[in-house]
This record gives sequence, structure tokens and C-alpha cells, in this order.
Amino acid sequence: MKKAIIFDLDGVITDTAQFHFEAWKMLADSLGFKFDRADNERLKGVSRMDSLNIILEINNALDRFSPEEKEAMCKTKNDNYVELIGRLTPADILPGISELIDDAERHGVKTAVASVSKNASSVLSSLGLLHRFDYIADAKKITKSKPDPEIFSVCAEALGLEGKDCVGIEDSQAGIEAIHSAGMRSVGINVTVTSRKPDLELRSTKELTFDLVTE
Ligand code: BG6
Ligand code: MG
Repeated sequence: MKKAIIFDLDGVITDTAQFHFEAWKMLADSLGFKFDRADNERLKGVSRMDSLNIILEINNALDRFSPEEKEAMCKTKNDNYVELIGRLTPADILPGISELIDDAERHGVKTAVASVSKNASSVLSSLGLLHRFDYIADAKKITKSKPDPEIFSVCAEALGLEGKDCVGIEDSQAGIEAIHSAGMRSVGINVTVTSRKPDLELRSTKELTFDLVTE
């Protein structure tokens, strides 16, 4: 049995992946840029500036903006996002997640969050989950975004475990690749992966059970 469950935040613990999409869409629309849900799949698990660069690349606009202009665009997106997450409450925890955390605690299995978001603490706090995990790795703890394994490896190390002892839950291709590179078992939630498939593929967090995840 696995000794730790490492949760992605956006799109796994709560549906903030939708808010990230809406916040980028507002910025893209205001600039006359193409940006749709298919494009958005590439942004999941990717840092704010890397996400902006992907949107600019899609629109052949990578060289059109100075670093200062790009910082301003990221700030606008984040202002949009912060407004959208302002109304989050514990009722926004996705189905199956609280039960999984409870079961892990009951069985002595450790839990951690691996999120590259700079808003992770604020989101977890609004959900009433800030103190429910043994460890939280966020943007401050890492230098590389997913698909680099760093954030998952940082969690394992902080818990005193090896990759093979851990299972990671993700809703993005970048996240699944990061979990595999960290040597962990992966659970994919409603994710289409063109590289190595998740070890366990589920359509929704509703299907998560302690036994399925930790086997
Ligand atoms: C990840 C999301 O969790 O956090 C990405 O999947 C997002 O979509 C990234 O870009 C960075 O988030 P933030 O809150 O720092 O802009
Ligand atoms: Mg995610």
C-alpha cells in the first residue's frame, strides 16, 4: 500500500481550473487573441508566465511584448482570477476529496498538496483545508513548473518518503508526466494524456476511493 497521497489543487481538490480558464479568456478577449478550451488544456499545471507565453505563441505574438508588458498582463489575469476565487467556500471542495483525506488520516497514510499556484494557500484557506495536509508544496517551494517532477519530489522528501511510496492525483498532462518522472503511481482525473497514460484513469473525483488510490 502507498504511504502518501499527493493531491494537485486546481481541478482536483476544487474546480479552480475553470476559473483559471475564465481569467485567461477575459485577458485574451481584451487583446483580441484566440484562446479556447482546447488551448487551455496546455496551460493546466503550468506557471502563470509560462501560461501567458503559450497563449502568445498560439497567437504568433511571442515577440510583440516587453517583459514589463508581460508582467502587467499576468497581473491582469491574476486580478481576474482572484476576483473569481473570492467566493470559494468549503462547499466548493470536489466530491470524494474530503472523504479521501479522512480515510488517509484514519489509515495513517500521509497527504500533501503539489500546486505550482501562487494562490494555493489562499484557495486552501477558503476551502477550510489549509491545515488538513501533512505538507503543502506551492510556487514558493520550487523553481520548475510541471511537467518537471520537482514539486512532487519536494513533497515526498518533506514527508520522508521515496517516490515509489507515493501516489499523485492530477487533472493535467503536465501533472501526470511530473508524477511519472518522480517515480510515483499516478491517478488521472478526466484527463487526456498523449504521453504515458495514468496508472489509474477516472472520469471524476466522485470515483476516488482510498483502496483504488493507494493499492
Ligand atoms: C496551476 C494551474 O495549478 O497553477 C495553472 O493548473 C496555473 O493553470 C498555475 O497557471 C499557476 O497559478 P497562479 O495562481 O500562480 O497563477
Ligand atoms: Mg490541476
